[in-house]
Amino acid sequence: MNLILLGAPGAGKGTQATKIAERYGLVHISTGDIFRANIKNGTPIGKLAKSYTDRGELVPDEVTCDIVKDRLTWEDCKKGYLLDGFPRNLFQAEALDTFAKIDGVVNINIDQALLLDRLCGRRVCRECGESYHVSTLGGRTTCARCGGELYQRKDDNPETVAARLEVYNAQTAPLIDYYTKKGIILNVTGTEAPADVLFEDVKKLLDLL
Ligand code: AP5
Ligand code: MG
Repeated sequence: MNLILLGAPGAGKGTQATKIAERYGLVHISTGDIFRANIKNGTPIGKLAKSYTDRGELVPDEVTCDIVKDRLTWEDCKKGYLLDGFPRNLFQAEALDTFAKIDGVVNINIDQALLLDRLCGRRVCRECGESYHVSTLGGRTTCARCGGELYQRKDDNPETVAARLEVYNAQTAPLIDYYTKKGIILNVTGTEAPADVLFEDVKKLLDLL
């Protein structure tokens, strides 16, 4: 099963992706995580990506599509994969159609008024990538899963979040229509739903595939 997770920044893609990948034995591929790892390691891709991710803009399509196209040729993808954060515009969606067969798209709908707090309050584990919200941490600074240090993403500040939302509304939201027309979209609501309630909804839909 090859899936896409669609949703605005902070909709809960990463949170759901971890659970879906575990439950269905899929490889979780997040283009955002790939760029952040490259930035951390100072690679040429990282150097290029940094200026875009810092501003909340999309990294150029050709670079992003090449990365995903290559990643999908890895042996582990044979068991199925879950794309988180790709595609993000029509160009990328059409490119993906030339090198992948997608079985379903999970679209997380969310009231955008919730996103600023969710993103500015997010803390991420440096080791395993698990996401938390400060309001649930009770002052903890380490990951409950692996003990890794929690940090705040550089793009999780009010100014960059506003830019990311603008990009989402202008470029990514039209993909809902693109996949609805293909008849492969599964809509769930992420608004106010605690992450495990949302996952139960996702599971119900995925079990129908
Ligand atoms: P990326 O890393 O993909 O960021 P994003 O799309 O902005 O999404 P986020 O990761 O911020 O949010 P999420 O939906 O995963 O939410 P999460 O589960 O963490 O991309 C970053 C950058 O990389 C882009 O801006 C761009 O520059 C570049 N990039 C990436 N892909 C690209 C592409 N294809 N093309 C070009 N450039 C690309 O949850 C958020 C918070 O909410 C957490 O604190 C969490 O604990 C909490 N939460 C989650 N679910 C719930 C719930 N149900 N109820 C309450 N709280 C919840
Ligand atoms: Mg994410």
